[in-house]
Amino acid sequence: MLFRTATVFAAVVGAIQCTDSKEAQKACGELEEALPELVAHRLQLDYTGEILDFWSLTVQDEKPACLVRPKTTQDVAETVKILNKHPKVQFAVKSGGHDPNPGHANVDGGVLVSLNDMKGATFNKEESVAYVKPGGEWNDPLGDLADAGVAVVGGRLGVVGVSGLVLQGGISFLSAQTGFAADTVVEWETVQADGSIVTISDESDPELATAMRGSGSQFGIVTQFTMKTVPVGQEVWGGMRMYAADQVDALFSALHDFVPANNEDPKAAIIPTDLTAAGSLPLFLVFYFYHDAEPPMEGAFAKFLEIPSTLDTTKTQSYASLLQANGASAGLQSARQSFRTFTVPYVADAPHMYNEISLKFKSILDDFLKSPLRLTAQCAIAFQPFPSIIAKHSQEAGGNAMGVHPDDGDRLIIETQCSWALPSDDELVREMSKEMEVWLKAKVPEWTKGQVDGLYLPYFMNDAAGDQNVTGTYRDYAALKALQKQNDPEGFWSARAGGHKY
Ligand SMILES: Cc1cc2nc3c(=O)[nH]c(=O)nc-3n(C[C@H](O)[C@H](O)[C@H](O)COP(=O)(O)OP(=O)(O)OC[C@H]3O[C@@H](n4cnc5c(N)ncnc54)[C@H](O)[C@@H]3O)c2cc1C
Ligand SMILES: *[C@@H]1O[C@H](CO)[C@@H](O)[C@H](O)[C@H]1NC(C)=O
Repeated sequence: MLFRTATVFAAVVGAIQCTDSKEAQKACGELEEALPELVAHRLQLDYTGEILDFWSLTVQDEKPACLVRPKTTQDVAETVKILNKHPKVQFAVKSGGHDPNPGHANVDGGVLVSLNDMKGATFNKEESVAYVKPGGEWNDPLGDLADAGVAVVGGRLGVVGVSGLVLQGGISFLSAQTGFAADTVVEWETVQADGSIVTISDESDPELATAMRGSGSQFGIVTQFTMKTVPVGQEVWGGMRMYAADQVDALFSALHDFVPANNEDPKAAIIPTDLTAAGSLPLFLVFYFYHDAEPPMEGAFAKFLEIPSTLDTTKTQSYASLLQANGASAGLQSARQSFRTFTVPYVADAPHMYNEISLKFKSILDDFLKSPLRLTAQCAIAFQPFPSIIAKHSQEAGGNAMGVHPDDGDRLIIETQCSWALPSDDELVREMSKEMEVWLKAKVPEWTKGQVDGLYLPYFMNDAAGDQNVTGTYRDYAALKALQKQNDPEGFWSARAGGHKY
């Protein structure tokens, strides 16, 4: 509550001290003329509401000169055409606003294009696809599709935004059955740099379609995704369990069994999360999903379920209500947030690596979390299984920008996440996560006993920090960079809009 009040105050002060460039003011004026009703300026209620809707306070700190909320693809195209006339004005595109990296989905003194008024999905039963609008959160399309008993492959927590997740790759509870969220897209209605509207597909342009799966925001503003649907019926099983610290060994042992076993039981998904909060005992959370009314009684997934928990929300429910419930606690937390990622190989004879990772992160955080100034600070490390079967689906779907291949073996996507209150801690928190990345990089050859040839460990853009060179870790980086340049010769996206770059 305290932080929320402080933010409103900061928004008002920001407005009074407005230092928007003449160019930005001109662009905003032209947008307002062309799209009356859709533009909001500093001090207006709509403006403040939109800024407060960013998940992380690090992004709420940025104050655009104005924002435009298009309702249609035509409105987006018109916005792009006007932005083209003002080459000095920076801009940002916002879907759900969950990217915690400043400068990605918001912009200081520029133009914010929020897709908040374009959301939801419609189902095409004959084709088994859904037409998914680009704005809002996964709860929106999943809620619209629930009655039909189908889902699209998106976030595991319903609150997370649609476009940022699916454009950067996106891992879902259904990924072991379908590939990444991006792999299930068959068409992207996109506004290109010159304001033209195109529909990209494997038929129209296979090279570009592959690039659209995992390149982020560098090829245009997507205004509609045509996504394959997955029959989920009305009953799946899942929820969250919380564990005391003394179960960590059992949990890591179960995780080690689970990663390769997921290839044989793709209906199962987990997010093991190791949480360290200021002033409290460490906690371990696991989000569970099983694509059936009941979980299996034996196998690697069942091994997890035998471990005694201290809190348990798992039950049989619809896919949409599971995602809704999973997101409830992760909604707006009124905190500063950071992500950083690293991909590690699954090493069959290194079952100790998870515990080493956990202990290392805790030791890096120790001094920080001990301070009495940081009572609300907390950090977590997620161990996200990336079994080779996901890459197999990626390849079958036409391939993606990440360039993953089933022969690359099983992997885990490690994500460090922190939330904290003080802006003066921003740098320190980011440095601690960086230290973790440097340590992980050095540890991999140790765990694999020097066998690093043939390891392919691309970074997962969704969980990355803004300074991580994600695309540089992609197998086909050079070709994708050339394709981006060819589609965006003036640098409309690469030099003026936020997000990970080629
Ligand atoms: C609570 C929570 C849960 C999460 N769960 C998952 C999960 O289960 N799986 C997973 O893979 N990731 C997950 N993430 C990470 C998530 O995928 C990223 O944070 C992602 O950026 C969020 O998407 P968004 O739409 O909210 O992004 P935004 O912050 O709105 O945008 C992110 C980037 O995409 C660009 N962009 C947005 N819309 C468009 C568009 N239509 N066209 C072109 N560019 C666009 C923006 O400009 C920005 O650069 C989670 C994050 C949070 C905070
Ligand atoms: C990112 O990595 C690629 C591949 O290694 C490299 O060519 C490129 O210069 C890097 N980009 C930045 C900004 O460091």
